[in-house]
Amino acid sequence: MQNHLNDEFVFRYKLVGSVEYIKSGKDQLILSKMVKICCIGAGYVGGPTMAVIALKCPNIQVAVVDISTARINAWNSDTLPIYEPGLDEVVKKCRGKNLSFSTDVEKHVAESDIVFVSVNTPTKTQGLGAGKAADLTYWESAARMIADVAKSNKIVVEKSTVPVKTAEAIEKILTHNSKGINFSILSNPEFLAEGTAISDLLNPDRVLIGGRETPEGKKAIEALRDVYAHWVPVDRILCTNLWSAELSKLAANAFLAQRISSVNAMSALCEATGADVSQVAHAVGKDTRIGPKFLNASVGFGGSCFQKDILNLVYICECNGLPEVATYWKQVIKVNDYQKTRFVNQIVSSMFNTVSGKKIAVLGFAFKKDTGDTRETPAIDVCKGLIGDKAKLSIYDPQVNQDQIQRDLSMKKFDWDHPVHLQPMSPTSVKDVSVVWDAYTATKDAHGICILTEWDEFKNLDYQKIFNDMQKPAFVFDGRNVVDAEKLRKIGFIVYSIGKPLDDWLKDMPAVA
Ligand code: UDX
Ligand code: ADP
Repeated sequence: MQNHLNDEFVFRYKLVGSVEYIKSGKDQLILSKMVKICCIGAGYVGGPTMAVIALKCPNIQVAVVDISTARINAWNSDTLPIYEPGLDEVVKKCRGKNLSFSTDVEKHVAESDIVFVSVNTPTKTQGLGAGKAADLTYWESAARMIADVAKSNKIVVEKSTVPVKTAEAIEKILTHNSKGINFSILSNPEFLAEGTAISDLLNPDRVLIGGRETPEGKKAIEALRDVYAHWVPVDRILCTNLWSAELSKLAANAFLAQRISSVNAMSALCEATGADVSQVAHAVGKDTRIGPKFLNASVGFGGSCFQKDILNLVYICECNGLPEVATYWKQVIKVNDYQKTRFVNQIVSSMFNTVSGKKIAVLGFAFKKDTGDTRETPAIDVCKGLIGDKAKLSIYDPQVNQDQIQRDLSMKKFDWDHPVHLQPMSPTSVKDVSVVWDAYTATKDAHGICILTEWDEFKNLDYQKIFNDMQKPAFVFDGRNVVDAEKLRKIGFIVYSIGKPLDDWLKDMPAVA
């Protein structure tokens, strides 16, 4: 970044509050020269991350660019393309000042000092590594474009989750097409979780920056560290080599997913033996070495990262001659799949071994609460399982619309991770699925209710009214342990809660996964 500052004036600079000042030669404080940042990819990561950088660094111009005109138009409108608590306020504060959204990718890349790349990295569906390895087509095309349009030195920051050593490949593309321009590549993995993205970005556990251990690499790390240091305490900014940063992201997500598969595996044992998984998780989590977070048994984990990152990890292990390590991590995904299948089987077996022609209300479709994101949501597999048994589904999610649900239920595995306009669209919608806009319509005349996302509003529905309007016996299958099962049983429901002691009814009809 030093290159961009006025050397005549500057001999050192320091950070005062959230504004960067330069200590000038005449011993007076002046605002630093504008630095420009651009982010390729206006998605769940790029959008919120850049909005928070713009908020915290008023002296930096931030442009978010994307090939999808619809997405950019939405970022420039009153209805942002993603639902994320707190995001609207941040965008409204900065848009039109130091934050812009544009489809003019090349112009903004050419003008920027730091280019973040946060594009899709789908799992390959064909060829070498199909079903596991990451498809870096979008990354490669972004790198070639950067090399093409660059007229000044740039720091290129890897922000999408990518396999270890991607940075090295990208570095090669950039340097072999550099026309004398210097590119420094950094890995700066994102750890934000959806639904809490803004608070995660404002107050991160850590920021990780990986770079080359050369003088240029170290300078680039410092430049990016200075951006985050506007609001993140420096002891939380960890600097590592490139590969460590890339691997840390995969490892962190694998560890998190592993915790969920561990507690979900326990939930099956709890149901078989009469223990309560919440009590077990509470007791286990009280051990300070284990900790209480991320121990909620559920119908399974979803989201764009966990499965994809573990598949990447498995592939890397296999490629490095470590089949035992690969098998170990693969098991985390297998248990997740088992949990979803187990849930569907429980529903079908409880309802006299058939759901054919029966209306089942599905409450929640997003992969977790407080997001409209449906990528890899367990709801897709559960709904497909029920449709496979000829159920008629009535789906309600406060943030997911009909178009998205139809698209998800008709898409092939792994097709979701392409830019929206390149996703294969099924010409026909899935029959036997209706999408409604409130829980009472979804549950009216239904035989059973499946709760698949832990939206707060599902805790406080009028279950007496819902019971009155349902077919009998009326079932609730709680895949997130959000309802008060005892209260519902008193109303008359037959209730299945993940990992909890089973109703006598359910004991008599054991599900076989
Ligand atoms: C995850 C990581 O947390 C984040 O650091 C990384 O940057 C991206 O991937 P995200 O996928 O947004 O974030 O959500 P997360 O909160 O991790 O939840 C993932 C899935 O696990 C959800 O389906 C959630 O419902 C499920 N989950 C989480 C459980 O089933 N039980 C839990 O105890 C916690
Ligand atoms: P993430 O969750 O990692 O942010 P998303 O799928 O939400 O992932 O966002 C990735 C974005 O990257 C999409 O909006 C897509 O249109 C965009 N994109 C993919 N390739 C390119 C490219 N070559 N140039 C600009 N934008 C791109």
